[in-house]
This record gives sequence, C-alpha cells and structure tokens, in this order.
Amino acid sequence: MAANDGEKLTNGTSPVALSRYQGEKRTCYCGELGEKDVGSKVVLMGWVNRQRDLGELIFIDLRDRTGMVQVVTDHKRSPESFKVAKKVRSEYVLCVSGTVVKRAPGTENPNSPTGTIEVMADAIKVYNRAKTPPFVIRDEAEPDEGLRMRYRYLDLRRLPMLRNLELRHKATLAVRNYLSQNGFWEVETPTMTKSTPEGARDYLVPSRLDPGNFYALAQSPQLFKQLLMVSGVDKYFQIARCYRDEDLRADRQPEFTQIDIEVSFSDEEQLFALIEGMMKYLWKQVLDIDVTLPFPKMTWQEAMERYGTDKPDIRFGMEIHDITGVVKDSGFMVFRNTVNSQGTVRALCAPGCAGFSRQQLDALVAQAKEFGASGLIHLAYLPGGEVKSPVRKHLSEEEIEGIARATGAREGDLVLVVAGPFETAVTVLGRLRLSLGEKLGLIPEDKYEFLWVTEFPLLEKNEEDGRWQAVHHPFTSPVARHVDLLESEDDSVRAQIRARAYDLVLNGVELASGSVRIHERELQDKMFRLLNLSPEEADEKFGFLLEAFEYGAPPHCGIAFGLDRLVMLMAGAGTIRDVIAFPKTTKATCLLTGAPSQVSAEQLEELGLCLKLKQEEKACK
Ligand code: AMO
Repeated sequence: MAANDGEKLTNGTSPVALSRYQGEKRTCYCGELGEKDVGSKVVLMGWVNRQRDLGELIFIDLRDRTGMVQVVTDHKRSPESFKVAKKVRSEYVLCVSGTVVKRAPGTENPNSPTGTIEVMADAIKVYNRAKTPPFVIRDEAEPDEGLRMRYRYLDLRRLPMLRNLELRHKATLAVRNYLSQNGFWEVETPTMTKSTPEGARDYLVPSRLDPGNFYALAQSPQLFKQLLMVSGVDKYFQIARCYRDEDLRADRQPEFTQIDIEVSFSDEEQLFALIEGMMKYLWKQVLDIDVTLPFPKMTWQEAMERYGTDKPDIRFGMEIHDITGVVKDSGFMVFRNTVNSQGTVRALCAPGCAGFSRQQLDALVAQAKEFGASGLIHLAYLPGGEVKSPVRKHLSEEEIEGIARATGAREGDLVLVVAGPFETAVTVLGRLRLSLGEKLGLIPEDKYEFLWVTEFPLLEKNEEDGRWQAVHHPFTSPVARHVDLLESEDDSVRAQIRARAYDLVLNGVELASGSVRIHERELQDKMFRLLNLSPEEADEKFGFLLEAFEYGAPPHCGIAFGLDRLVMLMAGAGTIRDVIAFPKTTKATCLLTGAPSQVSAEQLEELGLCLKLKQEEKACK
C-alpha cells in the first residue's frame, strides 16, 4: 500500500483510490505527441501539472520529462475516469490510457508544442498522491532559490531544469564519443589522494586506519594524468569530479566536473586542433549549430591591452585604447604625472553615449572607483563638434583630436579615460566595457565566440608572503625564448616570463585551461628553485611524480574543461547551479541533505579526532 493511502483530502471528500503499479507499459512520452498521432491509442505516465474541472469535462495537463499534453475526461464517454479525474490534484502520479484526438478549432493552444491535440481518456489510474508542493511547479515561474535547493527534486521537475540535465547528458556523451573516435581512453584516477598543485584549499578526509593522517580530495587529476603519460597511455581523458575549497560564485562550485585531457607527443597547435574539432562536433551534435574554425588566438598581453581581462568577451567591440602617447605632455596634471611615473592612460569609446546625464556619468565614476580606479575622466563628443569634459580647459585641441583618433570616437560618442598603473587602468576599463556593453544591448545573446588566450605569465608574486608562485601550476613549461630568464633574480624580468599555458574562452567565460608540461628533470628543478621550493619540499609534495619522470617521461600537454561551465553556456543558463542536479549554495552547503553536518563522538574517536570548536567540545569527551 502506498505511504499516503487513506489520507483525507483537505476539502473533506474521500481520497481517490490508488492503483498498484502492475508493470503497465507507457507507449510514448507526453511531449512527443503531435498531429501525427491522431487516432492512436496511447498509454501515458506522469505527473499532474494542473487539473481544471469545467463541470461536464475535466482537463488534466499531464507532465513527464519531455513536456506536457492535455488529457480530457468526459463523464459520458468514460464515467469511471471522470470520477478519478475529479479527485486528482497537482503532482499526483497517473497512468492515462486514451486516444489522441485533434482539438476542436478555436481550442488549440499555440503556446504548447502539443497544443493542437489532446488525449481522450478511457482509463486513469492513480499510482500515488502528492502533498501540496512548497512552490507551484511551473516552467515559467522560478521559485525562491532557497526553496529550489531545499526541494531540488521538485525544482528538477520543471521542464527547463530537466532539459538542462538532458543537454548535459548529451554533451557528455558527445565528448566521450568524439574523444574515443580520436583514440582517447577514459581512465579513472583517484579522488581520495594527496594535495594536487591547483592551489585552492583542499577538502580533507581523515583516515581511520592511519589516525592523524588525511587524504585530500583531488582538486584535479593533474598529477595522475601526467603519470599516465609516463605509462604510455598516450591519449587520456576523464569526466572527472574535482573538489576545491574556495570562494564560490555563479560559475564556481566546491564540487564540480572537468573534462580532463592529456596527450603525449603533441604541442599546443595539435591540441588546439583536437579541441576545436571537439567543440565543432559538440555544438553540431547537441545544438545543431555550425561553429566556425579555427578559433582566433590572442596572447594574454594582447587580451589585457585590448579588453582588460584574460577572458575577453569578443562578441562585441568597444576595445580599450592606449592614449598615453597622446596625453604625455597634457595640461591636465593627472595625465602628465601618471605618464611621468611610468603609468599609463587608457580609454574606451562608448558609442552614442555623449548625451549621458550627470547622474549617469556620476554612476560611471562611482563604478570605476569601486573597480579600483582613483578616478574616471569622460569626454563627450557632442553632435555639432563641441566636446564636453570636466577637464576640457586643460586639454589642447590636438589632445582632443588625438583621443578621438585613437579611440575611434565620433560625434555622439562618450570617451572614458582611466590613468594609473597598467593593470588597474585596463581592468577597470575592461569591467566598465562589460557593464556598458550589457546596458547598451551591444552583446548578442545568440552568438558563440570562442577565443584561445595563450602565453600567460609563468609566475606571479604572492602579495602576502612575497614568494613567486606558478600562475597555472609548477609543471607548466616556459616558452622556449624565455627559458634562460628562469635564472634571473630580477623581479621585473621574472614577471615577463611567459608560459606555454592557454585558456579557451567562450563569450567571456574561462571554459578550459591547460599547458604544455615540463618533462625534463633539469628544467623542472629550475622551476622549483624559482618557486622557492627546496628539493626536500618538492620531494615531499610531488616526489612520486618527479621519480616517475626519471623513467622516461614523454613530451606531453593537456587541458581541462569545466563541464558545468560548458553546459551552462550551451544551455544559456545564468549559473552553473542550473546545470548541476544537486548543487551546493554559495556557502558550500546542501540545503536538501543538510551537508555538511555534525558527526557523532564515536565517529570522531574512531578517527582519532578532537574538535576544538566550543560547541562541539562536549562531543569529543
Ligand atoms: P584549472 O584549475 O584552470 O586547471 O581548471 C580547469 C577548468 O575547470 C573549471 N573550474 C571550475 N568549475 C567550476 N567550479 C570550480 N570551482 C572550478 N574551478 C575550475 C574551469 C577551468 O577552466 N589541471 C589543470 C588543467 C590542466 O592543466 O590540464 C586545472 O585543473 O572551467
């Protein structure tokens, strides 16, 4: 007997009788029905989306994972099913047998893919009743995020969410097929392991058999995939679960999935061609969209100069321009002083924005300051030739013209200028560019613009401890022309060293990241010295990999995609949470299961752990 059998309906009538499921078979899914099926007998199974009682006729919108269809019961045609239909409520689980008929003219629903037909019910079985859900399950109505997470299984009943899961399945399958066709083997690597070099905080798992010792959950399969290259696997991939304890945002989860790839005897050009083929295949198979190859490439330096970010959204222009040369002798002190102190002056042109109000301009200045600029200067090139700017009187005609020439500004445009250190000037303008691009409607939503960003800096200085650290990871090769620079002690030289590291960017989102690895011991030792890792420390952290490399490591390179981000972009979703069946909140909690949660004193004891937190101290005794 079903769990809620015998429950009374709130309106006082007796509940509908439940039917035991006796292996009945559905003949098709609701959303697949159409005029081609008119006249067919069908058996459908699904959930009641809505029931409407019109007296003589009762309509039920029946939903399954493909969509919805309207079921009609007529008390004359089928008094039994009419009686059952009268008692069903939203989210009851039904089996409907009936005949597909064309809807009467004037009663079609153009908003529904099955809106020209309906199913005349001959019999309705109720397999289960349902409590009133905490939110109405409708495609178009997005419930409160907290409720969606708490009742995720109900949120997933909404068709847009089911479609995302289906798309994820198709994308993963296409990736598997493509890589397999190209000679790749899927190999699983451990997720309970030692710390990997990705640089985020580890999630730790205490060992019961070896108290006081911990596994780290893999941040990526990086070290194992390199070991597989030493093994001769040659072409590896894995749909790999990764765990990182880091600050979360719309495109980051503590637990996420990578399409992880590594190839021996390949350089970046061969890898790019393989990956571009994979994207083309994926987009065609899953979205039936033709992607143009090859993807454009841009060095990190160029991306920063032109777009103020290492992940440019190239669906629209509005690029950043260097006007340092134009204003180096400016009467405006801020510009001149910046140039004299090795700073830079950069500008971008907002088309058609010369008429921005005082309020709009103030908001831009506030935004620029929030992004880290000390100020923002604007020049409005008004129709008729006049130029309005708070610093107009300090600027010569040549400067005004020079700025227009450099930025491509015409009458009616607004030029925004930031002076300061390179990184600040370009990143502030880069963020203003994105925000204005969105506000001005310049970003086409239906376009997919891929871009390879190459030659990332090899090293960056950790502001906290002043140590140099690898931007990608310590096994990434420097570009050949910079290998000699690894010996330099000079900070400014070290900052110039470029890596054979690359990202694949799609519509301004970092989709994948990888590098050509170091496979020679000597170069690796140099790299560790640069990173201030003593041979003992290097050995402690990565000894097993270094040892393996002494047994014949082939040249190799690789890349890893964020699968969640890939599917998010393919689905047009705003966050990766919408393409993950059971995601965590931005505080890394699961509102459905209540994880993370406390554990018993016995469990802690078994693991040899004692909690220091005040609240839990008791549990430790
Ligand atoms: P990286 O750390 O750049 O490189 O990660 C590769 C890709 O994984 C995705 N990603 C994430 N997605 C969701 N939530 C997160 N917290 C998260 N962190 C990363 C991004 C990113 O581009 N081992 C190297 C790859 C290699 O060199 O082969 C690595 O993990 O899309």
